Amino acid sequence: MIPNASDGLVAFHPYSRPGTLQEYLPDPTRPVERWYNRPNSGNVTTAAETILNLCGDPPTAVVDPFCGAGCTAAVAREFGTPFFGIEWDPVLACVSHAKATAHRHHARLLRHTPELTSPERLLEFCTGLDLDHERPTDEMHMACLAVVVCLAGETGAPTRLQDIEADLEKRPIEPESASKGLVRCGDCTDPGTWTGIPVGMRGAVVFTSPPFYRTGLPLEVSADLRAAASLLFPRHTPQAPAPTKASYADNVIGMLRALTRHLQSGWVLMEHEPGDATPEGLQAVAERIGEETDYRAHRVLTTKTFSKAGPLSLILCGRE
Ligand SMILES: C[S@@+](CC[C@H](N)C(=O)[O-])C[C@H]1O[C@@H](n2cnc3c(N)ncnc32)[C@H](O)[C@@H]1O
Repeated sequence: MIPNASDGLVAFHPYSRPGTLQEYLPDPTRPVERWYNRPNSGNVTTAAETILNLCGDPPTAVVDPFCGAGCTAAVAREFGTPFFGIEWDPVLACVSHAKATAHRHHARLLRHTPELTSPERLLEFCTGLDLDHERPTDEMHMACLAVVVCLAGETGAPTRLQDIEADLEKRPIEPESASKGLVRCGDCTDPGTWTGIPVGMRGAVVFTSPPFYRTGLPLEVSADLRAAASLLFPRHTPQAPAPTKASYADNVIGMLRALTRHLQSGWVLMEHEPGDATPEGLQAVAERIGEETDYRAHRVLTTKTFSKAGPLSLILCGRE
């Protein structure tokens, strides 16, 4: 458990997890987690343990403003809590949505329409759907699972529909919790994107990996797959400009300022990967958080070195 905030400079502490690259990357043997097995996603066991170690009780909800392919969506699924995620890339928003909410029923539906695992046919299907992505239908859940399968096919991953179905047979979702969650496609530094996301529940924990230097490029997928995903997850504030390429500090400060209006209490844990900034830079990030947001960086936890570039850090913030 973390101590109360103390005055002065942020405290730097060692932290044991992840101690190896294996503990950092998605585990290809674990159900749901293996659906997107690429190095810009995270390890569910490590993330869940970190939340429990640093935040105490199991969270009442998991919130991830830069949710990518949804390591944290799978964490919420493990905890049986709602998941609230924001992601700029609609393809990844579909993956996060599927990880948080898909039920074995949706995999079975997809098994009966296997043609939807072709991006071209999926696009045709999505074009004909009457979608309200805030109230997802079975067709939408199924289409998001189809995106997971298409994406695996396009990126050469071994995940196939039968693997997904097997995972969901093993791990039926708690429909109650999932129905309270929500994934949105948009810019989390734009306050408008958060409107109507009921993240303000007591005991919610924000766990996020703001964009790292190596995830600056958009995910390369076929035009049909991207178009289908964009129909499933249109940008929440389409009139807002695309986020500019910002520094790590600008991203987290923009996100925290937007989040402040919606989440009244609770911990915010942010990963910081080597290459984003120097250790001195981390102190500066922590100071900027205190000066420019309603949050305060209580601690920077430095994990065991896991790459040539240096250790991964976790910045732990709370409201004043
Ligand atoms: C390091 S990845 C997150 C990985 C994630 N933890 C996972 O399990 O896949 C950061 C993500 O933030 C997204 N992103 C970048 N800027 C954003 C913004 N302003 N609003 C929302 N998402 C953003 C990127 O598209 C990328 O998927």
